[in-house]
Amino acid sequence: MKERKTVGSLVRKPLVDVLMGQRSLIPPVWLMRQAGRYLPEYRAIRDRTKDFLDLCFNPKLAAEVTLQPIRRFGFDAAILFSDILVVPHALGQRVTFEAGEGPRLEPLDEPLALRRLQRKIDHEVLAPVYETIVRVRSELPADITFLGFCGAPWTVATYMIAGCGTPDQVPARQFAYRHSDGFADLIKLLTDASADYLIRQFQAGVDAVQIFDTWAGVLPVDEFDKWCIKPCAQIVAAVREHIPGAKIIGFPRGAGTKLAPYIADVPVDAVGLDWMIEPAFARDQIQKRRPVQGNLDPLALLAGGEALDRSIDGILAAFGSGPFIFNLGHGVLPETPIAHVERLIARVRGLPLKG
Ligand code: CP3
Repeated sequence: MKERKTVGSLVRKPLVDVLMGQRSLIPPVWLMRQAGRYLPEYRAIRDRTKDFLDLCFNPKLAAEVTLQPIRRFGFDAAILFSDILVVPHALGQRVTFEAGEGPRLEPLDEPLALRRLQRKIDHEVLAPVYETIVRVRSELPADITFLGFCGAPWTVATYMIAGCGTPDQVPARQFAYRHSDGFADLIKLLTDASADYLIRQFQAGVDAVQIFDTWAGVLPVDEFDKWCIKPCAQIVAAVREHIPGAKIIGFPRGAGTKLAPYIADVPVDAVGLDWMIEPAFARDQIQKRRPVQGNLDPLALLAGGEALDRSIDGILAAFGSGPFIFNLGHGVLPETPIAHVERLIARVRGLPLKG
């Protein structure tokens, strides 16, 4: 891939500039789950591996899959191809992915079950992830931001306790009320493990990381403070102790008005907005204080046409005059047509559609 936008020897990364609080005329753009099943080149590689985790732990293939959406669409960021559930896997809770059924883990359904976990993550298990980062780094054009990530402790805990995805996270919510000490121990273990994991990702070569708190939205205010805000703030502090100035994006999906206390207490460089947030609230209460990222409804991208154009224009009108990264409000859906992604990029960048 060729290098672009070089000024002398100084290569700017537009997305990192936004994380430093700058506003750009054309917002940098990437999409959560930009690598995945909607891409035929991803499916071709995925068909060659049995379990999804085998792909995550194969540095050559994982690096290839990370770079596929960059080659095809020219996004401003590449996100490491891996999964948030490699962390429980590296804590000794085996994770498998059944085809079409999502993740399966042996559920931690009572506090004593927590004893089955290791006290620290095993970096040997995660070594292929760090090797993937080194490989991607060496191939990525200098103006493209390389993002690492982890799941936030609360979201990872919901899968560890239920043993699978659930629509409403009832098993973890019940566990947290019934066994709050045991749950606090699990969150602490995940907080330390996630910070260690992100530090290693920075050391291997990522430019910034995102903390995915996909299920933050099911928590009432007090629980949101205990299980989302506090652990995320601790992760940010621990990472910056080792990597001063580390750039971090927080994504507490579904937080709604709780985004205000989130940005007050979690010193992330930018915050991800989901598609449900009220735009005036997000602009006036959040973006005035912190760069924002988001927030196209993944279903508008799936639908395409005028609905897609209207949604993109609305988002640019709401957030385009402040520090802003264009993204979805959650991940790309597997059925999304590639032409709709091309249309999105052209519209965000103000370019004519090719072909
Ligand atoms: O964004 C990217 O392109 C990078 C890769 C990435 C994946 N998962 C790949 C993946 C990232 C950042 C994730 C994060 C992740 N994983 C989250 C947080 C963000 C979100 O989407 O809410 C969560 C909750 C998970 C857990 C997970 N992984 C589930 C529930 C599933 C099954 C549902 C599904 O979409 O299939 C996965 C599997 C998964 N993770 C796939 C991919 C490409 C599909 C697996 C396959 O190809 O067979």
